[in-house]
Amino acid sequence: MTRHLLRDDDLTSAEQAEILELAAVLKKDRWKLKPLAGPQTVAVIFDKSSTRTRVSFAVGIADLGGSPLIISTANSQLGGKETPSDTARVLERQVAAIVWRTYAQAGLEEMARGTTVPVVNALSDDFHPCQLLADLLTITEHKGALKGLTLTFYGDGTSNMGHSYVLACVTAGMHVRVASPLAYAPRADVVADAEAIAATTGGSVTLYTDPDEAAAGADVIVTDTWVSMGKEEEKAARLRDLGPYKVTPHTMSLAASDAIFIHCLPADRGYEVDAEVIDGPQSVVWDEAENRLHAQKALLVWLLRQQ
Ligand code: CP
Ligand code: NVA
Repeated sequence: MTRHLLRDDDLTSAEQAEILELAAVLKKDRWKLKPLAGPQTVAVIFDKSSTRTRVSFAVGIADLGGSPLIISTANSQLGGKETPSDTARVLERQVAAIVWRTYAQAGLEEMARGTTVPVVNALSDDFHPCQLLADLLTITEHKGALKGLTLTFYGDGTSNMGHSYVLACVTAGMHVRVASPLAYAPRADVVADAEAIAATTGGSVTLYTDPDEAAAGADVIVTDTWVSMGKEEEKAARLRDLGPYKVTPHTMSLAASDAIFIHCLPADRGYEVDAEVIDGPQSVVWDEAENRLHAQKALLVWLLRQQ
C-alpha cells in the first residue's frame, strides 16, 4: 500500500526510528543507495518560498540516482487552476514521488488520496514533518537516545513547527513542552493525538505559559519564527504577544547545562532568539540544516520500499 508523510504521526515509533537509523547510515555513506536510478523523477512543488527544503530535496534526489523536478505553483496549473487530485493523477504516470510545500493540509490529503505514488509534506500551515526528522537526527547525534529527553519549544505553538514538535517528539518517547501565550497554544486535537501516542511511548506533552518554568532542566531548547509564511498581516500583534517567549541566554541558563539549541531556520535574530544563543556554543543549527538532506533521503528510500 502506498505510504505518505503528511503529518508526523503518519509514522509509528518503530518506523520513525528505522528512518532515523537509515539517515545516519546515508550520512556516513552518502551514495550508498540509488533507489531512483534510471533516473526516475521526483516532483518537488512549492507554493511558498524555500531555501533548505528546495536544496536538500534537489540534492538528495540526485544523490539517490534520481532527477528532481522543481515546480513553482505560480508557473503551474495548481493553485486554483487545477485540483490537487487531478494534478496527482497526471504526475503519478511520470514521477516516483511527489513532494509538496503548500498552505492547507487538506490539499495534501486530497493529493495523497488521488495518487498511487508517495506524497511528502514539505511544510504546510499545520505540520513540517521533514524538518522534524532532521531535528530528531540532530538531537540523536548530540544527545544520544531520544527516549526520555525533554525538549521545550518556545513561541507560536499553533504553527506547523509547534504541531510537528508535539507529535514527532512523543512518537520518539520524548517529553515535549510548549511555552506560549494561551492564544498561541497548539491545537487541541493535535495535543490529544500526541497524548494518545505518549501513552504508548512513555513520552509526554505539557503546555506552559511561564517561559522560565518551561526551560527548567530541558535537554533541547527550540524556537521558530513568530511570523510564519501566510501570517504576515498579523506581524505587529505577534511581535507584541510573543515577545516574552524569546529564547535568550537567560533561557539557556535555566535549561540543562549541556542543553542544545535548535531552530529550523530562517531565523530573525533579536526576535524569537538572541544572536548570543543561535550563534553561541550550544547552538547546533548548521548540523540541523545539513541533516535535512540525510533525513529526507532516508524518508524517500523508506517510502519507495513500501511501494
Ligand atoms: N527550515 C526550512 O524548511 O527552511 P526553508 O523554508 O528554507 O525550506
Ligand atoms: N513556521 C515557519 C517555518 C519555516 C521553515 C513558516 O511556516 O514560515
